[in-house]
Amino acid sequence: MSNFKSTFNFFHFDKIDSTNKYAIQNINSFESKTIISADKQTNGKGRNNRNWVSSEPNNLYFTIILKSSNDNFINILPNISQLMAILLCRVFENYEVKAEIKWPNDILVGGKKIAGILCETSIKNNEIQGLALGVGVNLNLSENFLNKIDQPATSLNMLIKNSVDKKNFLEQLLNEFSFSYSGFSQSGFHLIRDEYKEKSCFLDKKIKVVIFDEIYEGLAKDVDENGQLLLMLDNGMQKNINLGDIFL
Ligand code: BTN
Repeated sequence: MSNFKSTFNFFHFDKIDSTNKYAIQNINSFESKTIISADKQTNGKGRNNRNWVSSEPNNLYFTIILKSSNDNFINILPNISQLMAILLCRVFENYEVKAEIKWPNDILVGGKKIAGILCETSIKNNEIQGLALGVGVNLNLSENFLNKIDQPATSLNMLIKNSVDKKNFLEQLLNEFSFSYSGFSQSGFHLIRDEYKEKSCFLDKKIKVVIFDEIYEGLAKDVDENGQLLLMLDNGMQKNINLGDIFL
């Protein structure tokens, strides 16, 4: 078993537009398992072209570059962000905070967002060059700042009533990653499916799924062996969902 120091290479910026953008633009210059982190991002990206507010240096903004290590890489690609969602929840547990996953990879505490994951792929000549797995975690935000975010949000310092050491949080997360990634990259989602379901907050609930301009409503029945959401539509038909946003 290796710990995070021997697993990763590190590049840190005081300020950058987006660690994900930088990772994708320079993917060929970096080895797999390189961490690009920043104290601030001037154009932090969220899922679905949203903005990720990244002006507070005591929060965590980083991207892991991952490249193919075996023939199974293409199969596990869609689920890497779901693995990261589980690992984030595990680290929050170390602070005695119960975080939950909203499919596919939003991290919430008490229904409020505390962390987000943006996974982007770089493809050239039909070949996958690598993956940018971007993670933003609200570690130290004021009540005032949280109120300005355009969705219900919380921050770890608010929950534990103490400031959080971001280096320490990152180390715990990267340790979890280095222990789990190799097994996951060989076996895929089914290895983590039970834990993913256990940590999820949407199963057996009536939800709304928005996929571009389509909206589906129904019961979130299950998450299958591939990490897809199985939605029982109000008309009794089942729909397998592999992209989109869900609303509880
Ligand atoms: C989400 O919308 O939930 C995903 C947010 C992802 C934010 C992180 S911060 C580090 C990395 N760089 C970016 O520009 N975005 C991701």
